[in-house]
Amino acid sequence: MHSNAVIAQAPSTVLGIETSCDETGVAIYRLGQGLLAHRLHSQEALHAAYGGVVPELASRDHQRRLLPLVEQALLDADLPLQALDGIAYTAGPGLIGALLVGAGFARALAHALGKPAIGVHHMEAHLLAAFLEPEPPDLPFVCLLVSGGHTMLVDVEAVGRYHVLGETLDDAAGEAFDKTAKLLGLPYPGGPALARLAEQGDPSRFPFPRPLLDRPGFDFSFSGLKTQAALAGRKAGEGAAADLAASFEAAVVETLVGKSLRALKTLGRRCLVAAGGVAANRRLREALAREAARSGLRVVFPRPEWCTDNGAMVAFAGAIRLAAGERAGLAVEVRPRWPLAELPPIASS
Ligand code: KG4
Ligand code: ZN
Repeated sequence: MHSNAVIAQAPSTVLGIETSCDETGVAIYRLGQGLLAHRLHSQEALHAAYGGVVPELASRDHQRRLLPLVEQALLDADLPLQALDGIAYTAGPGLIGALLVGAGFARALAHALGKPAIGVHHMEAHLLAAFLEPEPPDLPFVCLLVSGGHTMLVDVEAVGRYHVLGETLDDAAGEAFDKTAKLLGLPYPGGPALARLAEQGDPSRFPFPRPLLDRPGFDFSFSGLKTQAALAGRKAGEGAAADLAASFEAAVVETLVGKSLRALKTLGRRCLVAAGGVAANRRLREALAREAARSGLRVVFPRPEWCTDNGAMVAFAGAIRLAAGERAGLAVEVRPRWPLAELPPIASS
C-alpha cells in the first residue's frame, strides 16, 4: 500500500478516537503490526428512553468517557502515553457537539505530547475497516457503505482514491431500518431489533418494492419503504410485525445486493467490500456472499464489531493519512457535513 520507507519514518503508533454519534470508541493501531488495543462505550442505554440519540446527552457522555477509555486502552496495550506517535479523531460527518468533544480532546492531547494530529472522515474510516481483517480486500474494489447517516456505492481505486458512484436520494439504509423499527414499536436502536424480529417472520408475505432497482444507475431511495410498511401494517392489523420486519429487510437487502453487483459488473471490479453499521446485518452478509460467489466475485466484510462505529477504524485511517504526511492544524475544526467526494486523495497512494 505504501513503500516501507514511508512507513519507517511515519508516526507508527496511532491513537484513534471516535465520537461522531452515540459510541465512544478508542483504539491504538501500529502500522506494520496491527491493532494493539480497542475500547468502546455504547450510549444505547442513555438514549433508549428518548427513542433516538439526544445530541446534547451524547456530547456530555463522550466527555465523561473519553479519558478513562484512553487510559484503559493504553493499559491494555501496555504502553505509556508517550509511546503514541500521533492522534487521530473523527472530524466529520456527525453531530457537531459530539465531534467537538473528540476533536478537542484529541487535539489537546496531541499538542501536549508534541505529536501530530489528524482529523479523519468517518465514512473513509468505515470504508477502510476491512483492512483490519486478516484477509483484507484486493484493490481496486467497490465499497457498499451503509450506515445510519449514509448509503453509498464507492469505487475505490486505491486507498484514498474514491469515486462516489451513487448514494441515497432520501433516507439512509440504517435510517430506514430505524424508522421502520419505530413504526413497529421496537425499542431504540431499531436496526438490530428489527433484524432480530425478522428472523421469525416470512419475508415473502408483503411484496414491498425494490426501490430504483429497475432503473439504471447506482442511487438508492429508502424513504418509501417505511411508508409502505406503515400502510401494510395498518391493513394487516395485530400480529404482523415479524412478517413486516422480514419483508422490509428482504426489500432493503435485495436492493443493496442488486445495485452492488451491478456496480461491480459495470466497472469490471472483482472485489466488493460492505461496511458501516448496516453491513453488520446477517441477511445482508449472507445474500452478498451468496450472490458474489455465484458470479465468481470476492466479498469482504469487516467483522460486525468493526462495521458499527468504533475507534479501531479511526486509528487505522488516521495512521494511513499521518503516514502520508497529512496533519491537522492547531485549531479544533470539525465538519458535521462532509461529502466523501470532498475528501482529498492521499498524496502517496
Ligand atoms: O455505522 P453506524 O454504527 O453509525 C453511523 O455512522 O451511522 O451505523 C448505525 C446504523 C443504525 O441505523 C443501525 O440501526 C444500523 O446501522 N444497524 C443495523 C444492524 N446493526 C446496526 N441495521 C440492520 N441490521 C443490523 N444488524
Ligand atoms: Zn458510522
